Amino acid sequence: MPADFLSYDPRNAFLPEHGIAPDDLKSIAAALDDVRDEVLAEAQLWADGVEIEPSKRPLDAGFHELPDRLLAEYRSRGPRSEVGRIKAAADRLSGEVEDVVVLGIGGSYMGARAMLEACCHLYHNEVPETMRRGRPRIYFEGNNVDNDALLDLERLLQARGDRWGIVVISKSGGTLETAAVFRVLLHDLQASLGRDAGELAKLVVPVTGKSGKLFDLATALGCQEVFEAPDGVGGRFSVLSAVGLLPAALMGLDVEQLLAGAAAMNDHFRNKRPEENIVLQFVGVAHLLETLRGCDVRVLSTWGKRLEAVGLWYDQLLAESLGKQQRGALPLTVVNTRDLHSRGQQHQEGKRDKFITNLIVERGSRDAAPLGKSDYNHDGLNELAEKSLADILRAAIEGTNQAYREAGRPTADLRLPRLDEYTLGQLFQMLMLATVVEGRLIGINPYGQPGVEAYKKNMNAILRQ
Ligand code: PA5
Repeated sequence: MPADFLSYDPRNAFLPEHGIAPDDLKSIAAALDDVRDEVLAEAQLWADGVEIEPSKRPLDAGFHELPDRLLAEYRSRGPRSEVGRIKAAADRLSGEVEDVVVLGIGGSYMGARAMLEACCHLYHNEVPETMRRGRPRIYFEGNNVDNDALLDLERLLQARGDRWGIVVISKSGGTLETAAVFRVLLHDLQASLGRDAGELAKLVVPVTGKSGKLFDLATALGCQEVFEAPDGVGGRFSVLSAVGLLPAALMGLDVEQLLAGAAAMNDHFRNKRPEENIVLQFVGVAHLLETLRGCDVRVLSTWGKRLEAVGLWYDQLLAESLGKQQRGALPLTVVNTRDLHSRGQQHQEGKRDKFITNLIVERGSRDAAPLGKSDYNHDGLNELAEKSLADILRAAIEGTNQAYREAGRPTADLRLPRLDEYTLGQLFQMLMLATVVEGRLIGINPYGQPGVEAYKKNMNAILRQ
């Protein structure tokens, strides 16, 4: 495996007394291989525009080849490509405003937040502009209907008096949470610009489907740029389309590297044998633990502060894709060592229904400094003076894994050599592919989310009573 590629180590899932054995994994290798072929064939069907048989609908397999296609188009068409346009719009808006409110919910929000937390300065909105590499502050809204929160944001923008803009993202264009907040903020922005329609058209950048209410509104506003939430790419699979790439570019992230990481994962998924295929191994181990050991709680144990939002993005991906027909594992993101002081007790001694996957970044982005000696050794830490926080984290990971192993609690390690756009692109694509593979393996269509409609129908009916 190349040094800058993700790695997966499930050795601690193979616990003789409570877990599964490597032979169990070998015994389903052929089934996993068949599912891979099926998933690859679906992606091809979708790319060829072939009529999809009813039993496969909806088939939003467009996410699969998207990174390769966008990259190839960027390399051949440069500024005239989708990626070229995204980068240009992000640069233009960055030059015009100091704050951007990114509106969206679910798949139209969680990927952007994950990228901000993983790849930008941890205090992106607080640090001086130079430390943000000249990029605007980013605020997320339209992901709830929280009056106090919206008012606080409005007050913040007003008090600051900066020029600000809106990126509004909704594939359907009709999601009430996003639409309601957009209406309020659009009004504020209009007022702050003295009703200058030309300016407004520059400072609002929508990402939406080819038609729908938001598309119509964007047309009426005359928005200078409108990006497409592409057909055949479901919301939670859309992080590597304009839905995620426009916010990423606004944050100053390297969009090409995100796509290159995802394309490398596609290549790996297509070509590696099941025994060395990280996607198939990841699915196989989780599937065996769920079916043979009843581990239907999938804990994604992120180590350090930067990966929590990636975990929440994955929670949505797994829950909305496979939580159907009264089935589907329960995803749960924890952040350690923080949550060792909250959920750790339950993971160590609670019900044996959990499979813990550690998400570990091997090399931090910053130099690790030793704690140092102190004249005030009341904390007793002088004996650890040469150790850094990175050393302590490593010991915590190892010590926790050991404690779980000794208690017969299955774990696996998913390692990122470092945390940047390239490895994050790999991780996004790996988890999306894994979700689809698992869906096909257990006979659940991973696309669509029919269950989400019920609350919307009731909410709309109640509002219009
Ligand atoms: O995964 C999905 O499709 C959903 O989570 C959607 O992203 C979410 O409901 C938002 O939909 P829209 O982008 O149409 O506003």
